[in-house]
Amino acid sequence: MQLRVSSYEDVKESAQARAAQPRASRRLLLKVLLPLLALGVGFSVFGMYLTRLQVAAPVVAAFRPCVEKPAGLERWIQPPSDLMHSMSDEELFWRASWVPLVKKYPFKWVPKVAFMFLTRGPLPLSPLWERFFRGNEGRYSIYVHTHPSYKINFTSDSVFFKRQIPSKVSEWGQMSMCDAERRLLANALLDLSNERFVLLSESCIPLSNFNITYQYLIRSRYSFVGLIDDPGPYGRGRYNPNMAPEVNIDQWRKASQWFEVNRKLALSIVKDATYYPKFKRFCKPHCYVDEHYFPTMLFIESANLLANRSITWVDWSRGGAHPATFGGVDVTEAFLKKILGGQNCSYNNQPSSLCHLFARKFAPSTLEPLLQLAPTLLGFGS
Ligand SMILES: *[C@@H]1O[C@H](CO)[C@@H](O)[C@H](O)[C@H]1NC(C)=O
Ligand SMILES: *[C@@H]1O[C@H](CO)[C@@H](O)[C@H](O)[C@H]1NC(C)=O
Ligand SMILES: *[C@@H]1O[C@H](CO)[C@@H](O)[C@H](O)[C@H]1NC(C)=O
Ligand SMILES: *[C@@H]1O[C@H](CO)[C@@H](O)[C@H](O)[C@H]1NC(C)=O
Repeated sequence: MQLRVSSYEDVKESAQARAAQPRASRRLLLKVLLPLLALGVGFSVFGMYLTRLQVAAPVVAAFRPCVEKPAGLERWIQPPSDLMHSMSDEELFWRASWVPLVKKYPFKWVPKVAFMFLTRGPLPLSPLWERFFRGNEGRYSIYVHTHPSYKINFTSDSVFFKRQIPSKVSEWGQMSMCDAERRLLANALLDLSNERFVLLSESCIPLSNFNITYQYLIRSRYSFVGLIDDPGPYGRGRYNPNMAPEVNIDQWRKASQWFEVNRKLALSIVKDATYYPKFKRFCKPHCYVDEHYFPTMLFIESANLLANRSITWVDWSRGGAHPATFGGVDVTEAFLKKILGGQNCSYNNQPSSLCHLFARKFAPSTLEPLLQLAPTLLGFGS
């Protein structure tokens, strides 16, 4: 017989039903009904007892020695401890687009700069970056997107340890390159503390120490995207009228791929569903979509938030389709001083001589001279 204790009423009814038997002999009553009645009353009491137990359950639990501490806010604000996940881009971008609408943070919030490395394989200049980041934990986060077949294997004492994100094949000039950049942004957006997002390649170097870099970016009112409206064949010449009305030719912009954006712009890039289909469909080779998609989109949506200059120095003076790549013999004191000085730009609407925080393109052979010159010229690594 199954004990139905879920409802106290059930037990009571069955007891009443039994009690309401038609007239029967006293013996029968004594022999059969009374024990049944007793059983019914027993069930009722048992049922009441159990009901009381249920009501009392939370109180009982509260007195139990702490089995599991109730989750606090930490649960919702901790960045993912493992950057690897199995989310599709669609799932990742959706999750990354969550925004808290209450502007005042109810906890101590230290903004971080997300350094997003887009590379096919190794990071040959990583020892220089290690020295740059050392001692500044809590104010930066690192993300590395590689070719999917390449696994970075830094040891646990490295700032790059376990900082690789799930990656896919990306090709220069193709939409897959923009996809990789959006993937980096989306993974970095999962950390609520990331406030600035800088895209770097394996050939980039820092030009200042971390503190200067950090303050410069965190305090900047503008994001560093170097917009150009180039009327020639490599600028407006790449525009396709099919992109209208979302994109008109006077809105068509070009910029270096190596952007720096704040959280608002990072979100607008990740959530974009307006311009993406147009660029994917109508900016085919030789349009070089990675030079046009983000600059054009950001110009249309948020021109007033852009510094209209790049934060990453590069040398186009040699001419040709690609900027200069420097090797070990190029990296001298005079060379670095040339990059560091003699510039004028606007920073938060004030003239400034500090115009670039990063530089490219540096071959692996530059590592040794850079490590040697960094303490005196770049201000870190001593
Ligand atoms: C990474 O792996 C390669 C070979 O798989 C090995 O030669 C190299 O020492 C490893 N590097 C680190 C930092 O573990
Ligand atoms: C950077 O600034 C922090 C505090 O603002 C300070 O503790 C640290 O020593 C500085 N690091 C360098 C390399 O200047
Ligand atoms: C950059 O250019 C846009 C217009 O193209 C302008 O609205 C914005 O203020 C400029 N940024 C700065 C820092 O001057
Ligand atoms: C930068 O501006 C200052 C003052 O506005 C001027 O004296 C200096 O020559 C300029 N430097 C360069 C490299 O243009």
